Amino acid sequence: MSVADAPPAEFFEANRRRVAEAMRPKSLAVVNNNDVFPTNADGSMALHPSADLYYLTGIDQEESIFVFFPDAFEEKNRAILFLRETSELIQTWEGEKLTKAEAERISGVKRVEWLGEFPTIFHALMCEADHVYLNSNDHPRAKIVVETREARFVRDCLERYPLHEYHRLSRILYRLRSVKSEPELALIQKACAITRDGFARVARFVKPGVNELAVEAEFDHEFRSQGGKFAYTPIVATGINACALHYIKNNCECRDGDLLLLDVAAAYGHYNSDLTRTIPVNGGFTKRQRQVYDAVLRVHRACMKELKPGVTAKDWRAFAQQETEKELVDLKLLTTAEVRDQGPDKKALNKYFMHGIGHSIGLDVHDVQIVDAPVSAGWVMTCEPAIYIRDEGFGVRIEDTVLVTEAGGVTLMPDIPIEADAIEELMASRG
Ligand code: GLY
Ligand code: MN
Ligand code: MN
Repeated sequence: MSVADAPPAEFFEANRRRVAEAMRPKSLAVVNNNDVFPTNADGSMALHPSADLYYLTGIDQEESIFVFFPDAFEEKNRAILFLRETSELIQTWEGEKLTKAEAERISGVKRVEWLGEFPTIFHALMCEADHVYLNSNDHPRAKIVVETREARFVRDCLERYPLHEYHRLSRILYRLRSVKSEPELALIQKACAITRDGFARVARFVKPGVNELAVEAEFDHEFRSQGGKFAYTPIVATGINACALHYIKNNCECRDGDLLLLDVAAAYGHYNSDLTRTIPVNGGFTKRQRQVYDAVLRVHRACMKELKPGVTAKDWRAFAQQETEKELVDLKLLTTAEVRDQGPDKKALNKYFMHGIGHSIGLDVHDVQIVDAPVSAGWVMTCEPAIYIRDEGFGVRIEDTVLVTEAGGVTLMPDIPIEADAIEELMASRG
């Protein structure tokens, strides 16, 4: 990683110590990096590194494997990094790869081997281990249509060593990764600061006639020039486009009188932020737009207070739904009877607000989260209520990246305008 303020090796060592404490005696864990995915012909996508590998080692180079055996008989076998060995050919086509010394400096792992050594060393370690922790993607909404590098490794391992006792490393990693430490918070805050600057730039740029693509480009310029990048595919959705939740075409003209929903945020040093603001294209909300905007903002504020340690994702969502229903009645979009009689599938509410109220965020944008675990202090979440009114051709979503504290959610984006007045004021400073 090229980010100058990457966490020191001690951060990754501390993460490994916590994992070791949670593993059974005589346990070995393996974490593989992700594949570089092919496109067409000889094309490939940029590597999206394994968050788990990064969390444990700070290493993001393709094909890397980390083997962790905290109570191995020989000290040299307790943590081993396997790296792709470079060659003249690789250097010519792809550039520099990590040396063993660099990998040791980044990760604090004392033993670094080339990948060619993996089968022999791994077999010897398996002969000594009783338990094996392997990695899997246990995100409930993950759509896995290709077998990942990790999944291929799991399959091979189970086939070759059927008599070991296997466990899911994710049960340990998800719990640990949910609570953010100081170096992680610092990187998330830096991502939020870059996002703030991107938003300020865009708020001064948007006016009737600009294309959504040009808005996206303004964000991109700001993020990249500060060493960041898009945390996720940006949603720049004017008018009714905002009612398509995952609208990413971003190719329409922004029209006078319309609202513009911007779900765009930066990642920095592997850590993510997530922001949505909804702004008036011409710099001023109409009366109706402001009514809806203020309604969503009230739900946002109520949900921030409710985001206290102990609340479960399910209860937090139910609270957000209840608050939104009240606002929908006041906005004359639903009647009290429609809310009362809608049944458990929330059909009436779902016409206007159909997604969750937030998610954990960190190394992944939709970060690890144990579904039934209550929220804890130190988690970083998003809070993102919304009201989408297809019939009126607009949608409003307001989203912040938030730290969970004993007193409730505290925004990590305090200097990104959120009140309608503050947004209008910022936009009024356009040239
Ligand atoms: N930007 C993705 C999300 O809000 O969850
Ligand atoms: Mn989000
Ligand atoms: Mn978002």
